[in-house]
Amino acid sequence: MKRKIQNKPIGIFDSGVGGLTVLKEVLKQLPNENIIYFGDTARVPYGSKSVETIKKFAMQDSSFLKSMDVKMIVVACNTVSSNAMNLLRENFDIPFVDVLLPNAMYASQVTRKKRIGVIGTPATIESGAYSKIIKKFNKSHKVFSLATPLLVPLAEEGLVENKATEIILRDYLKKLIKKDIDTLILGCTHYPLFERKIREISGDNVQVVNSARQTARTVKSMLEDLGMLNSDNKKGDIRFFLSDIPRNFRKIAQRFLKQNIAGKVSKIDIENY
Ligand code: DGL
Repeated sequence: MKRKIQNKPIGIFDSGVGGLTVLKEVLKQLPNENIIYFGDTARVPYGSKSVETIKKFAMQDSSFLKSMDVKMIVVACNTVSSNAMNLLRENFDIPFVDVLLPNAMYASQVTRKKRIGVIGTPATIESGAYSKIIKKFNKSHKVFSLATPLLVPLAEEGLVENKATEIILRDYLKKLIKKDIDTLILGCTHYPLFERKIREISGDNVQVVNSARQTARTVKSMLEDLGMLNSDNKKGDIRFFLSDIPRNFRKIAQRFLKQNIAGKVSKIDIENY
């Protein structure tokens, strides 16, 4: 029997654990949805790869999720969101939600001084996508961008409450704080794992924008508009697919999501998609 579109899962992907920050918010706002999460843990980080490679990975990740019969794909990765969305939208006949637009829109609304800082992977920052989109919202907004490549490996290692991480964060953030920003976009879905520390270092005068909440809101309103919300009353099911099962993934995911994911994680060969 053909499954009703409403009951189909939502697909979410990222290069690794970063997309869990988006997944957590989606679970909060849409507890009845079934979810398939793909983390490309064998090929993380994406942010230091060439645009050509990022596009190839983005196509494979989406093909895998499409093969799982998802009703929507959430690109929980800023690197893909800033470099490959046109390609994905042209190639797949399925609604996509990216993380760039909700982040940029929210930051543009909350900045008072019109001075916005963005931290992200080298590929996100070099794409200039945040500057372009923020300037579209308001030409007079100034955007100060900084590539912070060391943060993804630290997050993948689970080094969150860690002295070395704090030194690196302080060193990165002082460059933006000097620019007198009042809003800081966490332009990589891995970075909310360090949010507490980032807030502490940035101080009360800087609003830290973590796109997970805004992205989940966008997912919800898009599903509503499309008449695709799951109407089941029972709690949705989550399944995790990874291109490699690193030692740390389960531990980091369970600690962050505050739920046991034993028996829900499978490995797939993403090169076949
Ligand atoms: N979490 C992803 C992002 O938002 C990818 C980080 C990476 O793999 O470099 O950019």
